[in-house]
Amino acid sequence: MTTQALPIPSTLIVPPAIGRPGAISRFEDYQRLYQASLVDPERFWREQIQGFHWFQLPKRMLMGEGPEARWFSGGRTNLAYNALQRHIDQGRGEHLALIWESEAVNDRQEPVHIRRYTYRQLRDEVAQLAGVLARLGVQAGDRVTVYLPIVPELPIAMLACAWLGAVHNVVFAGFPALALLDRIEDSGSRVVITADGGWRNGKEVPLKPVLDEALTRTDLVKNVVVLRHTQTPVSWVPERDFWWHELVAANHSQPVPAEVESNHPSFLMYTSGSTGKPKGVVHGTAGYMVQTGLTAQYAFDLRPGDVSWCTADPAWITGHTYTVYGPLLAGASTLIYEGVLAFPDWERVWKIIARHQPRVLYTTPALIRAWMRQGEAAPRRHDLASLRLLASVGEPINPAVWQWFRDVVGRGTAPIVDTWWQTEAGAAMIFPLPHATPLKPGSATLPFFGVVPGIVDPNGVAIHGEGSGQLIIQRPWPGMLLGIWNNPRRYVETYWQAVPGGFNTGDTARRDADSYLWILGRADDVIKVNGHRLGTAEIENAIISVSAVAESAVAGVPDETTGEAVLAFVVLKPEAQDQGAAREAILRAIETQVGKIARPREIKFVDSLPKNRGGKILRRLLRELATTGQIKSDVSTLDDSTALLGGTKPA
Ligand code: WTA
Repeated sequence: MTTQALPIPSTLIVPPAIGRPGAISRFEDYQRLYQASLVDPERFWREQIQGFHWFQLPKRMLMGEGPEARWFSGGRTNLAYNALQRHIDQGRGEHLALIWESEAVNDRQEPVHIRRYTYRQLRDEVAQLAGVLARLGVQAGDRVTVYLPIVPELPIAMLACAWLGAVHNVVFAGFPALALLDRIEDSGSRVVITADGGWRNGKEVPLKPVLDEALTRTDLVKNVVVLRHTQTPVSWVPERDFWWHELVAANHSQPVPAEVESNHPSFLMYTSGSTGKPKGVVHGTAGYMVQTGLTAQYAFDLRPGDVSWCTADPAWITGHTYTVYGPLLAGASTLIYEGVLAFPDWERVWKIIARHQPRVLYTTPALIRAWMRQGEAAPRRHDLASLRLLASVGEPINPAVWQWFRDVVGRGTAPIVDTWWQTEAGAAMIFPLPHATPLKPGSATLPFFGVVPGIVDPNGVAIHGEGSGQLIIQRPWPGMLLGIWNNPRRYVETYWQAVPGGFNTGDTARRDADSYLWILGRADDVIKVNGHRLGTAEIENAIISVSAVAESAVAGVPDETTGEAVLAFVVLKPEAQDQGAAREAILRAIETQVGKIARPREIKFVDSLPKNRGGKILRRLLRELATTGQIKSDVSTLDDSTALLGGTKPA
């Protein structure tokens, strides 16, 4: 079990911030609504869904249980209609929907690229691209892989798919060809949308060449739509490849938004688990929309006219939900930034805030720690007065980091909304209502409406009151995943059978005397590096593909900068002598098969790995050794207890 050292709950309880008219501003009101959501869910959700546009209202709010639970059945709606057209229908077509800034700066340190779109402009771009995709044969239910940098065309591509009822599958632009190939093949995408390249740290990151390489290994993809962005020459496969701007210029039809059933799949998001390759988490339409739209309001207090800056890449769930859909469903303006936030230096972050005046800043503890290390001078030099609400996600936030964020970035008054959730959850699940819930630094506090968290011991026995254990979710919630693409069995086994009593989150958590929840870390073999979710199995598979390697085990260890870091233990084959060459080959294998984000902090060459008598590698011992330098826990199940302790030799 990975547990990050969190201090005993601080007795410091920060009163909620004073809200704007209309915001829930009393703790009793939160409690009352939460109770109502549990006592009569049908009635509660029927009221909550009123603000969305339905071509047909759902008959029932919730049907079925556990893995079969389905929300808003019989309803017909469209995610893109709700994110764009609804606001135009309501007279907000000229409101700002999207602001984009890219990293390049001129001699005076001013950004070279800034673009803004109103709701009407964004809708037009989306409807145009939807027309193009329809011409390429994309229909409702078809999967489209999107491999783009953070440019306006990334949300446009997502929304164009949603407009048609097609299923978008956004792949992180930092992934190598093999990781991209896996995701294209597993999703069965016949159309891929990409760009010539993107910008990162002043350099061009090639994208089309990576896709070309992936496509040499499959003939599944019939068409590639290429955005011209960095202007770098790219190679071309006639009949297969088309320029985005040429297709759009030649298109004269704008399809009407598809009226899809509530549980029609809207997107896939590949994410890591304990075993095997990343799995395609499938999200539906209405449940995802309702929880995303409502939490954009309840957690982040977003309203039309507000600018929201979520620093997450739209290729991860945080970006899908709170860089793209959440702010747009709330009618607010979303700010997106392409490139490295420290380019050309860390001052960039504060300049972006001063320039675009976001009301909300949503980011990760890893980034806040990086800002902290740079000191207070930079944030204090800039105008951050627009910021009224700060939020955190992805890993536990240490109280000292929480306090710094509030004092220095939030000028001592902005509420810190620590949101716990996951790819499978669709949208935020445990978080304070910013104007109602008293805050405890380091705690994600209390559940959202309808969310029933439980804490259980490893046998699934519920722990009531104070205590810690595995975090489960005991009732279906609207944003919950529909399943795992192509793998219904893995869905049921991983999430519904592993821990009795509910949905297995894979996390451990503690409940304090006030019922506040404190997330402790992952209970499984998932490692969180800079908020990125990595699976040990994926990294191990890359390592053992190196011919010199006999065996390998990977563990996550606490790291001050990245939250957790990857540590790789490797046993070389007897004939492999050259550790330096093996190290190089291992790093290359990880980079080309999993991606640079999975690079280990350290590779330790050992004589053998600790295993139990059944031959299972005991990662928990590796983690303990790497974290504390010794092993104190029970090693009675170990096959050869001298293996590890005596066996490490310097790399
Ligand atoms: C971790 C990201 C502590 C947790 C939205 C979870 C957190 C995993 C928090 C999901 C938080 C997320 N405090 N830990 N506020 N939010 N986590 O799928 O371990 O990329 O299971 O989704 O991140 O990561 P994922």
